[in-house]
Amino acid sequence: MAGGQPISLANLREVRLFCDQHSLRIILDATRAVENAYFIQQREAGQEGRPVKDILKELCSYTDGCTVSGKKDALVNIGGWLAVNDDQVAEEARNLVVVYEGLQTYGGMAGRDMEAMARGIVESVQDDHIRARVGQVEYLGKKIEDAGVPIVQPIGGHAVYLDAKTFLSHIPQDEFAAQRLTAELYVEGGIRAMERGIVSAGRDPTTGDHRRPKLELVRLALPRRVYTQAHMDVTAETTWAVYARRKEIRGLRMVYEPKYLRFFQARFEPL
Ligand SMILES: Cc1ncc(COP(=O)(O)O)c(C=O)c1O
Repeated sequence: MAGGQPISLANLREVRLFCDQHSLRIILDATRAVENAYFIQQREAGQEGRPVKDILKELCSYTDGCTVSGKKDALVNIGGWLAVNDDQVAEEARNLVVVYEGLQTYGGMAGRDMEAMARGIVESVQDDHIRARVGQVEYLGKKIEDAGVPIVQPIGGHAVYLDAKTFLSHIPQDEFAAQRLTAELYVEGGIRAMERGIVSAGRDPTTGDHRRPKLELVRLALPRRVYTQAHMDVTAETTWAVYARRKEIRGLRMVYEPKYLRFFQARFEPL
């Protein structure tokens, strides 16, 4: 999913063709590939009604390998994996994993965690599960929209994104509108979200100035199998309450900025 946009099978077939012509490997970040396969089922012509796991298998067949963070689709709290279809590369990776993680049978991931992930993978590709998972995100997005709160369309598979630029259109980008909105959701309703705008974009290493992305977003990401519909209602109602008093909300000043990945640890004060 490049930049949150699902890949279509048609697109990936073309990428495969191109890569074959240029002797390039395709290594997929398949972290959210099950959600991607679900969107293919829902949106791509000719794919409707096809089981998600069949679509996923076809998607992966056009690649030479993948990396996966298991914490997302695979329904576990820790771990991930690398898969490749070349025995020599696999052998090299197995050698390196001993150096960096420990032996693949008990190193970086404990046996218990690997067992949990094996079961998580099986469950994650079931149509009922993925429909319910994405359905919860959709429910939240539609409810937020009911009060006219601006969100990114179409609604995603793991998160609803608030459009902070429109929501707080009176706050200039250098005063961190999306960061302020993130803080307001927490103050209003205890909703913990994530800024995806100028703070996340960091600084240009050459000029030292902020990078200024086109979008200022707040991500409401939903962990799987954690929240009920009532939690979704509270979250939506919190966005409504903040939206109703949006004109009174001011920007922020950054008072502490770490050297790397500032979105994790920067501190702000209200203006
Ligand atoms: C598509 C994708 N790939 C990789 C990662 C990184 O995963 P991790 O935090 O386990 O390194 C994420 C995390 O959000 C993700 O969404």
